Amino acid sequence: MTTVAELNRLHGLPGRVHFHEEPDGFVFIAITTPLATAQITLQGAQITQWAPLGAQPVIWLSDAATFRPGKSIRGGTPVCWPWFGPHALNSQFPAHGFARTLPWEILTVQEQNDGTIRIELHLPPESMPKDQWPHDTTLHCDITIGTQLDINLITLNRDDHPITVGQALHTYFRIGDIQQVRLTGLEDCPYLDKTLNGQRFSQSGPVHFSQETDRIYLDSRRDILIEDPLLQRRIRIIKSGSASTVVWNPWIEKAAKMGDLGDQGYLTMVCVENANAADDVVQLGPDQAHHLRVRYCIESLA
Ligand code: BG6
Repeated sequence: MTTVAELNRLHGLPGRVHFHEEPDGFVFIAITTPLATAQITLQGAQITQWAPLGAQPVIWLSDAATFRPGKSIRGGTPVCWPWFGPHALNSQFPAHGFARTLPWEILTVQEQNDGTIRIELHLPPESMPKDQWPHDTTLHCDITIGTQLDINLITLNRDDHPITVGQALHTYFRIGDIQQVRLTGLEDCPYLDKTLNGQRFSQSGPVHFSQETDRIYLDSRRDILIEDPLLQRRIRIIKSGSASTVVWNPWIEKAAKMGDLGDQGYLTMVCVENANAADDVVQLGPDQAHHLRVRYCIESLA
């Protein structure tokens, strides 16, 4: 395994991008530029912090999050791949796939002309568990950090047969108060309510939160706005390569059972996950690639 010293020698950018290791061998990339600060873990290519300069953090990380190799991290931008939720055929396989709990490798780190930092990572194909995923695929995550945050998750089918991929960028957003935020951009979308055995409904007006919410919205291609009166901002989510959006908040009881969400954590987070879930899974023929892209930006409500 590449040491942190080697990672800094090969990919560090003095004063901008620095690799460091925490106990348990967890490796983080710290990014500090005049545009933004951010942190990424090599496990899962997961962004655990992002704040444009002068702005409050946009990404939520649980106060009770633990960082243990092979365990998912509560918060940030987990990459769910190559299936979303439970595996369709085998309940022993990990929920949301294996990409979020494996170490990724850095391909390139660059400072671009506009001051953004672009970091490309990949999940080494040889580390994918063959019993769970008997296909030859590559998975890249291309992250650009600036006053906006861009993520592009690229799957390439290198096999000689078609494959089916389910996935999500399971982002936890930091909000002022779950009971005061509302989501717009999902009006009139059909959705499957996972708290009601997957029953199908249609969204009427903006989404408000007053109880456990776990929904897969379908035909969802528009921008989604998280309107947050307490933090006086709107988080705009722009996406492509995804026609489904998962909206999740576990609320009090489920959060208490989870153990790593913190006592009051559910109040200041909401997951809005740009996905290929339910019947929106991606079919890729040999040599075909799919790009799941998101852009997050903040706008003032003041
Ligand atoms: C959401 C699912 O995407 O992730 C929920 O819709 C699930 O059903 C949640 O509870 C968290 O999943 P996990 O595996 O990170 O605890």
